[in-house]
Amino acid sequence: MNTTRPIRIAPSVLDADFGYLAEQIAAVEAAGADLLHLDVMDGHFVPNLSLGVPVVAGIKKCTELFLDTHLMITDPSKYAPAFVDAGADSITFHIEVVEQPFELVDQIRALGVKVGVALNPGTPAEAVLEIIERVDIVLVMTVWPGFGGQKFMTECLEKIELLRDRLRPEQWLEVDGGLNVETAPPAVAAGADTLVAGTSVFGADDPGAALQSLRQAARTEAKQTT
Ligand code: DX5
Ligand code: ZN
Repeated sequence: MNTTRPIRIAPSVLDADFGYLAEQIAAVEAAGADLLHLDVMDGHFVPNLSLGVPVVAGIKKCTELFLDTHLMITDPSKYAPAFVDAGADSITFHIEVVEQPFELVDQIRALGVKVGVALNPGTPAEAVLEIIERVDIVLVMTVWPGFGGQKFMTECLEKIELLRDRLRPEQWLEVDGGLNVETAPPAVAAGADTLVAGTSVFGADDPGAALQSLRQAARTEAKQTT
């Protein structure tokens, strides 16, 4: 039986040329991107600043893509409503900053979007085991968050495997950081189904072609492992 698992590719605009953002997004949309990954940083949770609410609102106007919004900020509860108003289709918060994750999940869900929980490379799977049955997306960071262009941390593969075993098939297991044609296959083999890719897509001369190469590499592995 041919049971290829669906694989979603989520280009991260963090590594796009912001002077030509609309054109860059149009290129990956035309090439078949499944989601658009938006990295929000506050300079506190991570040592960097990136895009905020007005940029998300601008992006919403120029694409039909699902806006997968990754909040690397210390106060996701305070800012989630503004990002949803701006057009976010999902809100993913970091477990490391939240004392009451169940309440936050309910708050985000009440905004009418998908809910995700993210873990840093140093955070064990155990930190999210209680909450994962309530979320739509589990995002495993495979680099330390804050910057694009880092090297994929293979030591995170075991955590991906453990989490996949605990998730229902319809829940997305997203990996973020250092994904390219070499690292996507082991991530998919470990159970990832949603691949964030910044540098390997937007750093390429032809982002659309790079996205399709990544999908091909991931799809081959998805076939082999089912
Ligand atoms: C890192 C961000 C990532 C980043 C990935 O903190 O969460 O989404 O854009 O970029 P690459 O693919 O270059 O590692
Ligand atoms: Zn991200």
